[in-house]
Amino acid sequence: MCGIVGYAGKNKGISKVMTGLKSLEYRGYDSSGIAYMKNGKINIIKKEGPIVNLDSCLDYNEDIDIAISHTRWATHGVANDINAHPHRQGKITLVHNGIIENYNELKKELISKGYTFKSDTDTEIASAYLDYIYNKTGNILESLSELTNILKGSYAFNIICDDEPEVIYGMRKDSPLIVGLGDKENILASDIPAVLHITNKYVLLDNYDIVKLTNDKVLFYNKNLEEIKKEVKEFTFDKESISKNGYDHFMLKEINEEADVVKKHLNLYTENDKVKDIFDLSKYKSIDIVACGSASFAGQIGKYYIEKYKNIKVNVYYASEYRYQKNFFDKDTLVLLISQSGETADTLAALKLAKENNIDTLSIVNRKDSSIARESKYVIYTEAGIEIAVATTKAYLSQIIVLLLMAVKDTKYEEKAINDLKLLPNLITKYINEYDYQSIAKIVSEKEHVFYLGRGIDYYLAMEGSLKLKEISYIHSEAFQAGELKHGSISLIDKDFGVISIVTDKTISDKTISNLKEVSSRGAKVIAITNIREDFYDYSIEIDDYDEILNPLLVIVPMQMLAYNVAKLKGCDIDKPRNLAKSVTVE
Ligand code: F6R
Repeated sequence: MCGIVGYAGKNKGISKVMTGLKSLEYRGYDSSGIAYMKNGKINIIKKEGPIVNLDSCLDYNEDIDIAISHTRWATHGVANDINAHPHRQGKITLVHNGIIENYNELKKELISKGYTFKSDTDTEIASAYLDYIYNKTGNILESLSELTNILKGSYAFNIICDDEPEVIYGMRKDSPLIVGLGDKENILASDIPAVLHITNKYVLLDNYDIVKLTNDKVLFYNKNLEEIKKEVKEFTFDKESISKNGYDHFMLKEINEEADVVKKHLNLYTENDKVKDIFDLSKYKSIDIVACGSASFAGQIGKYYIEKYKNIKVNVYYASEYRYQKNFFDKDTLVLLISQSGETADTLAALKLAKENNIDTLSIVNRKDSSIARESKYVIYTEAGIEIAVATTKAYLSQIIVLLLMAVKDTKYEEKAINDLKLLPNLITKYINEYDYQSIAKIVSEKEHVFYLGRGIDYYLAMEGSLKLKEISYIHSEAFQAGELKHGSISLIDKDFGVISIVTDKTISDKTISNLKEVSSRGAKVIAITNIREDFYDYSIEIDDYDEILNPLLVIVPMQMLAYNVAKLKGCDIDKPRNLAKSVTVE
């Protein structure tokens, strides 16, 4: 959440920092700002709205000494020019990702010392507090170390002090920060895409590490201000992974990558029709799957597979609830975290809770070296590649594949599942290219409200279909167990209400179809994504009919394509839906 980029270099610094910032726009885009030092003088420009608003005020040819920049996802204070970062107090100017939880208390203290504030943000308090400490110590490193004792919450900072006009300081706690090491230029950012135009060599900061960065030197310190050595890593990527590569949107590009994502997982995690030794679930009596949003819906499908094929009890929890509920941890429980970004604050907090209780933790994570991956006892990486569109597509599918492979490992379903997965890439390509989503998308786009209905695994799929639709098209949509509707919510149904149903599971499809008839009798037109060729819908997206393992997986791409086409018809900002950010690093 929020993107930060700091740049130290003598060649076209504005252009370099802004290229980085634009690549992080998926992390927040309600306002943005930059502070740069030129000949010892600071300039700050901040603009409400998307980064183009800031862009239009900048001279890309300007040579500067250093710059820090920010694209915001508002937490404290509305999105406007004043609340946008950077924030400046006294000699300190900084940008921040995270939340300072004790900002109110600190604000009172600072007001009593004579500070005044322009914005409603927690970040301005951090800049003032750092200025306050710096005025006492006269040493910025000491002041940063002291600040870690004062601030509660999470933070990644890029900081400029007026007295050191060629230096950027960085510091983090529970919010990612990486340093990109270039040739006579260095960069400090919240995510890897922001440094790749300069270098693929990077260092990951750990909690409480402090970095001091100039154009030709990067020094790292621990909290005690001892200089430390950090491992330099290399990021291997192809440039296409961070470009749209000819597609109108990243989301469409990423849906198109799903066939390859399946193949990659088969190559990586299977051999001779057997699942490789990825992780043995059998030793656990129960599993708590903990995740947020789509990752938790992938977890629901995992629950279905693991309970069915491994006969282990699985509960799925939203990470935002897990920490605050009563948990019955015992040593035979596995806590399984699922996260694309590996930085989701609630999921990370749930992981820490499990660790504190000495429970085994396994994470299924897409981003290598992310906090969740590093903190978990065991980790399995999904190989979806960088996902840029805010709405997840290929990462969600990849999570399900890993869960399925773990569920069938060493069971009689193992070979069948792998052979099914081998069929999936061609089917995905077929559903993207051969189905005309336009006419059904048009019907859905005219609805104000939609129920996404299903039973059992079809309901779990409907949860994702519904989220995908609402988050990018802004149509109100709810997933419902088809059988539950008549216990209250069916009163909403009339001819204008949208109903999309997922019907693949033949063991309960008769029941679902009866429920859909009840809806039809009340005037609603039913859209079905189904492998069942019976007369129970008004419109359909027909998928092929294989078996209980493959059929549910066939629904995923049609659901994603439908949501995409509805949002496109409505002219929505598909890759960056309003109010959302890709990586949710605040609770
Ligand atoms: C929806 C979506 C979100 C994420 C959720 C968890 O399309 O992408 O619901 O699934 O925010 O994010 P990660 O997987 O990064 O932990």
